[in-house]
Amino acid sequence: MSEVKSYIDNNQQRFLDELMDFLRIPSVSADGKFKNEVLRGAGFLEDALKKVGVDLVEICPTAGHPIVYAEKIVSADVPTILVYGHYDVQPADPYELWESPPFEPMIKNNRIYARGSCDDKGQLYMHIKALEILNQQGAPPCNLKFILEGEEEVGSANLEKYVRENAARLRSDVILISDTAIIANDTPSITVGLRGLSYVEVEVIGPNRDLHSGVYGGAVANPLNILCKMISSLIDDQGRITIPGFYLDVQDLTSDERAKMAETPFDLDNYKEEIGIAEVQGEEGFTTIERTGIRPSLDVNGIWGGYTGEGAKTVLPSKAHAKISMRLVPYQDDEAITKLFTEHFHSIAPKSVTVNVTPHHGGKPALTPTDSTAFRAASNAFEQAWDKTPIPTRDGGSIPIVALFTEVLAVNTVLMGFGLDSDAIHSPNESYGIFNYLKGIETIVLFHHHFAALSK
Ligand code: BES
Ligand code: MN
Ligand code: MN
Repeated sequence: MSEVKSYIDNNQQRFLDELMDFLRIPSVSADGKFKNEVLRGAGFLEDALKKVGVDLVEICPTAGHPIVYAEKIVSADVPTILVYGHYDVQPADPYELWESPPFEPMIKNNRIYARGSCDDKGQLYMHIKALEILNQQGAPPCNLKFILEGEEEVGSANLEKYVRENAARLRSDVILISDTAIIANDTPSITVGLRGLSYVEVEVIGPNRDLHSGVYGGAVANPLNILCKMISSLIDDQGRITIPGFYLDVQDLTSDERAKMAETPFDLDNYKEEIGIAEVQGEEGFTTIERTGIRPSLDVNGIWGGYTGEGAKTVLPSKAHAKISMRLVPYQDDEAITKLFTEHFHSIAPKSVTVNVTPHHGGKPALTPTDSTAFRAASNAFEQAWDKTPIPTRDGGSIPIVALFTEVLAVNTVLMGFGLDSDAIHSPNESYGIFNYLKGIETIVLFHHHFAALSK
């Protein structure tokens, strides 16, 4: 057994115990109630980083939750790896659907169940343990910097400022992120594309008060009926988004690129069964992998208005609301799309109502190169640890900071994530496989060595 593997083997229980301590901190960024817990999450990282021998660690305050910065500088002659991760988590609601409490991590069937176990505390912590191992082996082969944020799940509003103001400090040769998924444990992959995001909240306003649905029903526009009609008109029968200009910047893949994508192992029956649906749907002419990887989408994330309490109340509501997300692909621009949406949504509103559109956070799509030293190092690391060549994939989720790093730091990113789609991130009963956690640590250690070797 290799030295790295036996170290992980011998320290497996401690590696798990430490992660479970981290997962016990409910660092929910979206909810003000947890502000102090997010801060505790940053403090936990500070301690953990000190223990693995970084030269410097700082908790940097922002207008929101803090950023944790750390570095271990070995020499000016070796390359520098900048690790990004996020220690904030999604809210755990609805609590009643969790089989064990979200912030009391539980190990069952070789998986760690807890909010954040995969997204992203578990994946972030692998990098800290990788540094522990690298130190153990002697001097790490690369310099290492960490930028760990507490606001990813709420749109990274304060990270941009920090990155722009600290561009010199963040100077590096590659940005390494573990916050994505592999295809399967017997089919490793490296993410090379992420979708962007435009997120809006809409309000449709009708009469100046809630009305009796018998006295007025049929004669006065009902904002909820209108909102539903407006929303359903946003996607046509071919599954295409109807907002004029929406597809202008979408780049079509060549037939070669699509053929290559079609070779990606994918089991449709398994996919449907795992999420409990009888049939998939989407834009005509595209496969399921293409629909989430290379095509944009539009979804209602929440819709409300009128009476939703117990029993029946006969009311014609004065207002209706919805939250809508649009996932974007290269080279769509989130701000331009938000603007197109807003204009279109106003244009399709009947005179009987008024409409407000409020933008929330967004993010640009990202593509990472496959012909870089960093990608080759990641590929070699997977080959060595998993005995398989990793397949490049395009993921449907978003990490808006990737495009910003490329722009401000002009450095390549490698998305070396180790989760699975079935880990249920953002859902109740999120979990992370112990195999993925430990194998991920090993792969990261190997990445450092391969990156140093290939950079020579
Ligand atoms: N780690 C996810 C993104 C992700 C998940 C990428 C799976 C690839 C595969 C990240 O924490 C996330 O949830 N991002 C948000 C974006 C954001 C602006 C709130 C998302 O995708 O909804
Ligand atoms: Mn994440
Ligand atoms: Mn997330």
